Amino acid sequence: MSTTKLWDKGFEPDKMIEEYTVGNDRNLDLQLARYDVQGSLAHIAMLEKIGLLTAEELRTLTAGLQEIAAEIEAGRFEIEPDTEDVHSQVELMLTRRLGDAGKKIHSGRSRNDQVLVDLKLFLRDELRQVAAEVKALFDRLQELSERYREVLMPGYTHLQIAMPSSFGLWFGAYAETLVDDMRLLAAAWHIANQNPLGSAAGYGSSFPLDRTMTTRLLGFETLHYNVVAAQMSRGKSERAAAAAIAAVAATVGRLAMDACLFMSQNFGFISLPDELTTGSSIMPHKKNPDVFEIMRGRCNRLQSVPNEIALLTANLPVGYHRDLQLMKDILFPALTEIRRTLRMCDFMLAHVRVNEHILDDRRYDYLFTVEDVNRLVLQGVPFREAYRQVGMAVQRGEYRPTREVHHTHEGSIGNLCTAEIRRKMETVMQEFETPGMQEEL
Ligand code: ARG
Repeated sequence: MSTTKLWDKGFEPDKMIEEYTVGNDRNLDLQLARYDVQGSLAHIAMLEKIGLLTAEELRTLTAGLQEIAAEIEAGRFEIEPDTEDVHSQVELMLTRRLGDAGKKIHSGRSRNDQVLVDLKLFLRDELRQVAAEVKALFDRLQELSERYREVLMPGYTHLQIAMPSSFGLWFGAYAETLVDDMRLLAAAWHIANQNPLGSAAGYGSSFPLDRTMTTRLLGFETLHYNVVAAQMSRGKSERAAAAAIAAVAATVGRLAMDACLFMSQNFGFISLPDELTTGSSIMPHKKNPDVFEIMRGRCNRLQSVPNEIALLTANLPVGYHRDLQLMKDILFPALTEIRRTLRMCDFMLAHVRVNEHILDDRRYDYLFTVEDVNRLVLQGVPFREAYRQVGMAVQRGEYRPTREVHHTHEGSIGNLCTAEIRRKMETVMQEFETPGMQEEL
């Protein structure tokens, strides 16, 4: 007979059912272990305050949990094959080591709120780390934008030659786009940063739990006050996080697409050192942009994650449902993937080489037609007349560009506003600052 089930009532559930329902959870739950212990440390401190644990019991349990925390940090923690999840494992270890004191820890709790608390703390940390990787990529892009601010490149509309652009604008554009993605990350972070502890199975507890105390101990910004809302946030928090990740992925995926295009011989705008390209098994000359192709593919996949979560949670009525467990299978790999992708993108950009002479090629002459129209306008020719004059010259094959570019307004080739964009980013980054977890947790 199994003795490791919290809900053990003296019969052995079918092994097949167990495997099917637990699925990949033991493995994924390892990522939640340290947060599970933090949640329990806050909970027992609160239980002692409201008189459900003695000071002595609190001391014993705290030491027991801290010992488990050290095992987790040392990589020595595991969820035993007969144990369902991390919550059961931690309680089992405490009970084995401390006897009756261990059995008291679950008063006023449920695994439903344990997993909720774990996920909030986990998401809070993960999103902050994603934000840090996004910031690193932003810094890189801004640095490249400034370094190549004078280097012109063709700007396209409809993928047809349009107007002069620059590497300053191109790199800087992706930097500024990441500011908007960062706003979504910050929003997802605020959503995750609310205390669900005390919601128990989803309907609270008849014990006089001090939820304000655990909010402070765990460094949450606020509570999820309504216990039902707290339970319903399972899935919503993940979906917000996934939406933010998808936004970042859309930006990085687009940059990867540009890189593939611009590395093609037909463009030749950028190149990479040989060791960052990949070869072909048949064509000896090949230096392929596989990294950017894989990046594009991974980013496209990441954009399906909010949909997967939406479908998993579609039509679930109020309250806990075991379906919610499967969210971890969707979201956890996505968090790892976006961070890996951001790091790789930064690494590739650190080595990218820029062609500083693209516009020497006559095929790009037409980029300058608007410049020349504007030059005539400044000499007093009405715009429509200037447009016609230049247009006719193009038509007759007589157009010769002056190749002079004078853009001065905010956000243009000649005035990138790098510092202003940086200030926007720094303002958003400040959102990630909160009181923080109490030291002892
Ligand atoms: N592994 C479960 C999950 O992720 C933990 C909560 C289980 N609760 C329950 N009532 N069976 O949702």
